[in-house]
Amino acid sequence: MADASHCTPALARFERPVTALVSGASRGIGLAFVRRLLAEDGLRRVWAGCRRPEQAAELQALAREDERVRLLVLDVTDEGVLATAARVMAEEAEPLDLVINCAGLLHAPGGPQPERRLADIRADWLAESFAVNGAGPLLLAKHVEGLLPRRERAVFASLSARVGSIGDNRLGGWYAYRGAKAAQNMFLKTLAIELARRSRGIVCVALHPGTTDTGLSAPFQGGVPPEKLFSVERAAEQLLRVIDGLGPRDNGGFFAWNGERIPW
Ligand SMILES: NC(=O)c1ccc[n+]([C@@H]2O[C@H](COP(=O)([O-])OP(=O)(O)OC[C@H]3O[C@@H](n4cnc5c(N)ncnc54)[C@H](OP(=O)(O)O)[C@@H]3O)[C@@H](O)[C@H]2O)c1
Repeated sequence: MADASHCTPALARFERPVTALVSGASRGIGLAFVRRLLAEDGLRRVWAGCRRPEQAAELQALAREDERVRLLVLDVTDEGVLATAARVMAEEAEPLDLVINCAGLLHAPGGPQPERRLADIRADWLAESFAVNGAGPLLLAKHVEGLLPRRERAVFASLSARVGSIGDNRLGGWYAYRGAKAAQNMFLKTLAIELARRSRGIVCVALHPGTTDTGLSAPFQGGVPPEKLFSVERAAEQLLRVIDGLGPRDNGGFFAWNGERIPW
C-alpha cells in the first residue's frame, strides 16, 4: 500500500471514491500517476493501462502490493484492444470518474528523432506520431465514453505538450510531435463540447506537465535548468492538483502544470 501520510488529498472534489484509468502507465509520468493515486484514501480502483503489462515490472509490483491496481492491456492506436479494455472495465460495473491519458511518443530509440528541418520529415514517422499523440486520446475517449458517469463529476485529461500550442510556437522544429499534439488539442476541445452535451459533470482537458525527467525528454534536457526539470513524482503531484481544481467552466481548456491556461 502506498504511503498517504505525506500528502494532502488530491481527489477532494470527486463526489465518491474514485475509479481511475491511467493509460501509458508502464513508465514515466503515467507510472508516477498510478503510484500517486494509490496514496489517496479516496481512490477505489486504478486501471493501469499499457501495451505490455507482462513486461511492466514496476506496475506488476504495485498490483501485488495493492489490490486497487488492475493491469489492463491498452494500446491507444488499436481499436480492437481499446474495445476489449472497455469491456473488461465494464464488467466491474463501476463508472470511470477519472481518465488520464499519458501515452505519448517524441522519438524512437535508435530510430526517428524530432525533426530539426524540413528535410528530416518522414511520412511513416508523421503517421506514427499522429496515431499516438494525435488520434490516440480520441480513440481512447470513443471506447471509454460509455463508462463515464452521466451526472456526477468526471475528468477526462490527456497529456498534450506546450509545444503543441500554435500560438506559443516560437522555435519551430519538431514537426511530427508539434503537429500531432496540436491535433490532439483540437480533438480534445471538440470532444469536450460533445461530452458536455450529455453530461453536466464532465471536464475534458489537455494538460502540459512541464519538462519532466523521463525517457521521452532525456535526450533534450541539456538546456533545461535543474529547477525547471521536474521529477515524475512532482509532475504527477502538480497535475493531480490541477485536475482536482478543475470545474465545469474549465471544460475544453489547455492547462499547464501550475494551472495556467496555455494559448491554443
Ligand atoms: N516528459 C516531458 O518532459 C513531457 C513534456 C510535455 C509533454 N509530455 C507528455 O506526457 C506524456 C507522458 O510522457 P512521459 O515523459 O511519461 O513519456 P515516457 O516515459 O516515454 O512514457 C510514454 C508512455 O506512453 C506509452 N505509449 C507509447 N505508445 C503507446 C501506445 N500506442 N498506446 C499506449 N501507450 C503508449 C508508453 O508505453 P510503452 O512502455 O508500452 O512504450 C509509455 O508508458 C506524453 O504524452 C508526452 O508527450 C511529456
